[in-house]
Amino acid sequence: LVLLAYPAAADEYPSRPITVIVPFAAGGPTDVVARIVTASMAQTLGQKMLIENIVGAGGTTAATRAARAANDGYTLIVGHMGTHAAAVPLYSRLPYDPQTDFAPISPLAGTPIMILARKDFPAKDLQEFIAYVKANTEKLNAAHAGVGSVSHASGELLNSVLGIRPTGVPFNGTGPAMDALVSGQVDYMCDQIVNAVPPVRSGTIKAYAVATPARNAALPQVPTTTEAGLPSFQVQAWNGIFAPKGTPPAVIATLNAAAAKALGDEAVRNRLLDLGSVIPPPAERTPEALATLVKSEIARWTPVLTQLH
Ligand code: MLT
Repeated sequence: LVLLAYPAAADEYPSRPITVIVPFAAGGPTDVVARIVTASMAQTLGQKMLIENIVGAGGTTAATRAARAANDGYTLIVGHMGTHAAAVPLYSRLPYDPQTDFAPISPLAGTPIMILARKDFPAKDLQEFIAYVKANTEKLNAAHAGVGSVSHASGELLNSVLGIRPTGVPFNGTGPAMDALVSGQVDYMCDQIVNAVPPVRSGTIKAYAVATPARNAALPQVPTTTEAGLPSFQVQAWNGIFAPKGTPPAVIATLNAAAAKALGDEAVRNRLLDLGSVIPPPAERTPEALATLVKSEIARWTPVLTQLH
């Protein structure tokens, strides 16, 4: 009996389940977007996509792991404005380069940032919030998902715009940070709308503003920062799916087609839109669009965050 081993051909990809690393805790915004989109991609690809939550260091532990994974298309990562942009100026020895250590696949969702507080925070609108945090900066606790995360970078920007220095409280993701906000253990947080929609709708936290030029249809009652008198605070985060650098182009093309199709699927779109996400239009569901986004976001955040540190 002779056993012949054939290397797997690109046209057989994927022939086994694909691991998708999420760099934060389950239940948070990155995890939720990743699960919605990859469930649809898995149907297209005919293979399971298994989410692995790897937490720590504001998402950079997971991004380091993904950058060093085998580049065979079986380990991917859902990165975001933090891991692939804001972390660059915040870590003097970031173990990966977001621009050269990854093969971008597609942007997944834009996620507007909101200013949120615990339910009993003593301010009824953004102007009262601003007055209160300025007067009480020493006793304030601001939650975030670790240095370099979206909530950390946008929180730092808000604190700098307001000239306040609260105590930062890091969590392994804004899933657990939101639990702490709902239970009143922390005072406020800047977080992605995807994570904020359920507790704002159920009235378990307060939302003061959304930091985009227009209101969001998922929470139409919440004013923009411009309407509420803080026009200089504008942040929309984003997620994208990446493979390690050197992943074969045919594999990237297969994954890109599955991601682009998922973003056009009505059930996926309805879930993402219901959570306030901004879905990239078809022309932007490309590896090139994600590479451009990473480059421009590093250029945007580097001077802002370098100045604050
Ligand atoms: C962040 O702040 O970077 C994210 O919200 C983290 C997460 O997905 O939990």
